[in-house]
Amino acid sequence: MILLVLVVGILLLLLAVGVLVIFLRRRSRRTAPASARPKKQARQAAQPAAKDTAPGKAAPARPARPRQAEKPQPPVPAPKPEPAEPPSRSPLPPAPESGDKIRILIVDDNPDTRDNVSRLLYFEKDMEVIGQATNGRQGIEMAMALKPHIILMDINMPDMDGITATQELSVKAPYSQVIIITVQNEPHYMKRAMAAGARDFQPKPFTAEELVSCIRRVYKIGEPIYRQLEATQAASVQAAAEEAEAASADENRLMVAVYSPKGGIGVTMLASNLAVALQQIYGNAVLVDADLQFGDIMVHMNTRPTRTISDIVHDNGADLELLPDVLLPHNSGLKLLLSPPQPALADAVTPATLSDVADSLRQKFSVVVVDTCHKLDDKTLAILDKSDYILFVTTPELPAIKSAKQFYDLARELEYDLDRIGLVINRANLPGGIQPDKIQKILKVDRADFIPYDPRLLLAINRGVILTQQDPNSALARSVRALAEKIGQKFLAGETTVQSA
Ligand SMILES: Nc1ncnc2c1ncn2[C@@H]1O[C@H](COP(=O)(O)OP(=O)(O)OP(=O)(O)O)[C@@H](O)[C@H]1O
Ligand SMILES: [Mg+2]
Repeated sequence: MILLVLVVGILLLLLAVGVLVIFLRRRSRRTAPASARPKKQARQAAQPAAKDTAPGKAAPARPARPRQAEKPQPPVPAPKPEPAEPPSRSPLPPAPESGDKIRILIVDDNPDTRDNVSRLLYFEKDMEVIGQATNGRQGIEMAMALKPHIILMDINMPDMDGITATQELSVKAPYSQVIIITVQNEPHYMKRAMAAGARDFQPKPFTAEELVSCIRRVYKIGEPIYRQLEATQAASVQAAAEEAEAASADENRLMVAVYSPKGGIGVTMLASNLAVALQQIYGNAVLVDADLQFGDIMVHMNTRPTRTISDIVHDNGADLELLPDVLLPHNSGLKLLLSPPQPALADAVTPATLSDVADSLRQKFSVVVVDTCHKLDDKTLAILDKSDYILFVTTPELPAIKSAKQFYDLARELEYDLDRIGLVINRANLPGGIQPDKIQKILKVDRADFIPYDPRLLLAINRGVILTQQDPNSALARSVRALAEKIGQKFLAGETTVQSA
């Protein structure tokens, strides 16, 4: 009898231990974190908490939550476990083809819902929750800043409800497509939401498949809008970049005119030597002979006028497309635009043509140097107006200084910007000449540059060589080069030296 009681007791004890083990195992499985469970199980755990109460319906249990606005929370950062097998799901719309992720903003005042939806979407490779807002107002601000493709919008929220927010979003962030997510799935609410501009309506509770399918469907609808905005943005970014490039390119360009109201002063000498020096330092320079009737550039540069500005002139103006074809190369690297071969042809070159030519050359060359005629007519004025800088040449002789004074008086009267005019006193050291400081006083000019008299110049001109090129150590060449460097520093700061003299 005692033995029987003992055996029954042991059996009962074993049974109790077995029941306890099974209970503990089940319990430990239930309390394991979602991320440690198989994906399908985690997806079920991520069902959003239903919270809104439809009129006349019993309110589903809803967790207590703070009513004040909360800071937006980042998407669930938990590491993504690879599923053992892909979850079976109903046929879904395909993921975006472009490889872009669907950017999603969650707007819900319930932190559990935000968290659950965020967690649920975390498993979708083509989706990304880029932000969470706690009410409609914050949702609008975040939508404008983050430009999500999709906004998952709750209806009942403090401060601003989802329908009002949807209405405002259609104006403030038309790019973003709104999906209303709520338990209030009555037709009345659906109608209001759709009238406010929502694209779709996802009643709670919903499965992961239903939500993902809804998001992909709405993304597909919004795709033309996304592409349009992206194209507009890309175009405006490109336009801004081009504008900045053009502005900086324009900053690093120089058109300088060399002028004197008196003939035989040394204008052509200075223009040709300066152009060679600028070409040597900065490269990509062109020398224009705007002394249209009796220009001497061809003589100074020892070239024949096989092609000249006359070749681009026709009845109605100039054919600027031909301009590159009429530029002559010089052995210094300079390009030359020569004046017409006969004085009679000069009349056909109008001031407007000269302006157009100047504009066109400015676009193609870093440096444009223009030799001008001493006559202050419309053609010369067209060149002076287009120039960034005018080198005004005079010599220490009374007649030259008299003309210079007349010019400066006129310039002041016309309120010309005198900072654009640089005084150059040529043959400054000529014996018997008026002292430079006296010239400056007469002309009321603070600064001047000086080019010395150089007896080698005459020989160079007669041989058809440029002194700056032929004899860079001559006094004249050094002073011209110093002048070129000074002007270059002022206008071509970004450019680099391409050749050494
Ligand atoms: N610094 C100088 N040293 C020596 N000779 C010079 C100097 N500057 C100019 N000359 C001489 O003056 C002459 C006239 O120069 P240039 O042809 O450059 O003057 P211009 O002002 O262009 O005259 P035009 O009104 O005929 O166009 C040159 O042939 C040259 O011999
Ligand atoms: Mg000349």
